[in-house]
Amino acid sequence: MDGNGRWATRRFLPRTVGHHKGLDAVRTTVEACVQRGVEYLTLFAFSSENWRRPEEEVSVLMTLFVSALEREVGRLIRNGVRLKVIGDVSAFNPVLQTAIREAEARTADNGKLVLTIAANYGGRWDITQAMRRLLAERPECLTRPELIDDAALEPFLATAGMPEPDLFIRTGGEQRISNFLLWQLAYTELYFSEDFWPDFDAAALDRAIASFGERERRFGRTSAQVAAVAPQSR
Ligand code: FPP
Repeated sequence: MDGNGRWATRRFLPRTVGHHKGLDAVRTTVEACVQRGVEYLTLFAFSSENWRRPEEEVSVLMTLFVSALEREVGRLIRNGVRLKVIGDVSAFNPVLQTAIREAEARTADNGKLVLTIAANYGGRWDITQAMRRLLAERPECLTRPELIDDAALEPFLATAGMPEPDLFIRTGGEQRISNFLLWQLAYTELYFSEDFWPDFDAAALDRAIASFGERERRFGRTSAQVAAVAPQSR
């Protein structure tokens, strides 16, 4: 969700106003995804590296996260959205940690869309924490490293049990992954939008989905092989 700061600066407003507008775009996008039958939406709200921002901006973001978690739960429930937070939440203040746990518990029975918020998340952190937990739980892997493969690591990733993403959208004109879901994005289609995140809306989402619809997903195969395989077994 890139471009909140620039959206505000272009309007001679403080960057933090951009983050508030960004929350409006989150609401719009979540509802648009529900309407379109999207089952999983993962938003990168705060990276492990975002702590490097000015203290005041970090503080405004934390306050915004707490108030969003408290205020939006009713709307999430009405829309059938289950909330999950991934990342090292132990670094957040106790108020935010409690708000996260409560919002997750209150939406746990919803099944239309799993909305995952990546907060204090980094793709490298995810892979290393998964490896640490795998070795702690299966110490035999230390002496027999050949036991470690993709399938062994997957249950320990923060996204365990979720399908790999079909489509990655980055707004704000930058064309980088910036330590998002590094492992999970291996075969994901990448889409970069010039829109600043606060301007991202249902029409922008439809443009991204239309672009996705034009991609040929080969997963390492040739075009001819893909054409020969029945669509449902791809
Ligand atoms: C990146 O834009 C955005 C963030 C670091 C914060 C994202 C937060 C929100 C959208 C607010 C609410 C979200 C939730 C899920 C409650 P930037 O500040 O890097 O923009 P810039 O590149 O223009 O400076």
